[in-house]
Order: sequence, then structure tokens, then C-alpha cells
Amino acid sequence: MKVFITRKLIGNAEKLLLAKGFHVKVFNEDRTITREEFLSEAKDSDALISLLTEKIDKDIIDNLANCKIIANCAVGYNNIDVEYAKKKNIVVTNTPEILTDATADLTVALILACARRLHEGELMIRSNQFTGWKPQMLLGLEMKNKTIGIIGAGRIGFAVAKRLKAFDTKIIYFDKIKNQMLEKQLKARKVSLNLLLKKADFISVHLSLSGVTHHILNGTNLNLLKPTAVIVNTSRGEVIHEPVLINLLKQKKIFAAGLDVYEGEPNINPDLLSLENVFLLPHIGSATVETRSAMAELCAKNVIRVLSGRKALTPVL
Ligand code: DGY
Repeated sequence: MKVFITRKLIGNAEKLLLAKGFHVKVFNEDRTITREEFLSEAKDSDALISLLTEKIDKDIIDNLANCKIIANCAVGYNNIDVEYAKKKNIVVTNTPEILTDATADLTVALILACARRLHEGELMIRSNQFTGWKPQMLLGLEMKNKTIGIIGAGRIGFAVAKRLKAFDTKIIYFDKIKNQMLEKQLKARKVSLNLLLKKADFISVHLSLSGVTHHILNGTNLNLLKPTAVIVNTSRGEVIHEPVLINLLKQKKIFAAGLDVYEGEPNINPDLLSLENVFLLPHIGSATVETRSAMAELCAKNVIRVLSGRKALTPVL
């Protein structure tokens, strides 16, 4: 059985697969595999371990004659046409839960970085502009008694809310379904998206990308944000209509934004680069040694199970 991995991963994933006698091929270059390379390497594989950087659409799936599983090394799987893969009897798996804490930690870091203007402070030091303590230098926002708005109250949204509750905050959330745990443990209140945008001081976005959530934050509703609001996105760039957010930041109609994800990444809208009130990270929500190893190993375990005729541990449908 052949397993193709689209990028070198850390941890024991390869070892686990080799121990089962699989033939493992890894795309070993330090760049995203091209579509052509992917097609040619993957076409006779029995299993694939892919990343969110590979678009696996109908055309690609039609060329995967032997493939029984696509194990996506991410919790999000908007890069894969899952419905079509299912029609072709290919199981698609993701890596839920194991990246919740790492992503929640990074989200809180982004929120605090925006609130306390860490990026401007760091730049000031590096460019030799720090001439001494001043009472009005880089004044930021405090967390205590503020309202946190969680958009998308799944595992990561809950983990972020739990961390931020420790700052003596009040939690409101928007989701299709009620999150009992959030309501019971953190006394959170479910509200409409518009009300959340109007009321929250710190907004954290945790939505998976779909037809419904694409540009769910847009020119109509982002204008509801308070002038002191901070909005942070560690989910997928396309849930926010980025030019609208950029305009709000340019006109200083909100306090700041913190982004780990972008529309059309890895291309970054150049306007973002010149703004002081935005803190930018290169999609590193799950980037810890522990989490990335666990993600790769979960992919390998899913592959082993499916290729040996068992049910995957974390199928997406
Ligand atoms: C995911 O898992 O979907 C993140 O975006 C990357 O870890």
C-alpha cells in the first residue's frame, strides 16, 4: 500500500506507517506542492496525508484511482471537496480536538497583543524610537469587565472563552446551536450576530469556512462594531470580507484587529501591511511542537485504520 504525504511532518507519523509495512513517499521540498506535482505523485496512492494548502477538488479526486482515504492534517477541511470524495468512496479525516488548546492560546495572545498594542511597542524599540517612559505612550485597553463575543462556539471558541473568563469578563456568543457547556460553566449568553457585534469589546472568530460562513462578516454587519472594538480571527480568512475590515481599520472606526488567517493566503493584502492597528501572524494557530506532532500522528492512525478495513477515528462526514 502506498501513502503519499504532501509535506515533511514532525513526530512519529512516518514511523507508524512504515511499521505497518506501507510504502511511504513524502514531498520533501520546503514549499507547497504544485497541483501538477500533486497529481503525478498522488495518482496511484492508496492514501494521502494532505495539508490545508492543497486544493483537492473534483478533478484531483477523479485522478485518485486507488485512494481510500485523504487524511487532512488540519481541523478545517474547506480545501477538500468532501461530498465528492464521499461519492467516490474516499474517506476524509481531519484533526479535531488535539489543536484546540494551541489555537486558543494563540487567539488569547493575539487579543492581548491588540489590546496592549504590543506590535507598536516592539517596533518602537527595534527602530530606536523609545526615548523614555511617558504617561500617555501606547495606551491600550483593559480586559476586566469587558464583553467577549465568540463567533462560532465550538471547541476552540469554548477554549478561548474559558481562558478569557479568567480576566473577569462577560461572555456572549453567536452560533447556530446552543452551547450548554458555555452557558453553564461560563454563564455565557447566546445572541444574534448583529447584537454580538454591537455589544462585544473583544470579538473572536472561530468559524469553519463553508458557503454559509463565507463573508459572514461583511459591509453590512461590521459597521456595527464599537469604535473601541478589537476583532481577532484565527479560523479562516474568507469568513471576513477583508476590504471592509481594512477600511474600518484605516478610518480608525475600530481599535484594532488581530489576524492569523487571510483571504487568499498566503497573499496578504498590501494595505494590511501599512496599518498600525492590526497585528498580523502567518497562520500559526496550531503551530506548537506538541500539537503539530499529534496532528501528524492522528493522520497516520486514520490512514492505518482505513487501509486495514477499519473505521477512521476522525472522519469529517
Ligand atoms: C486547521 O487545523 O484548520 C488550522 O488552520 C491549521 O492547523
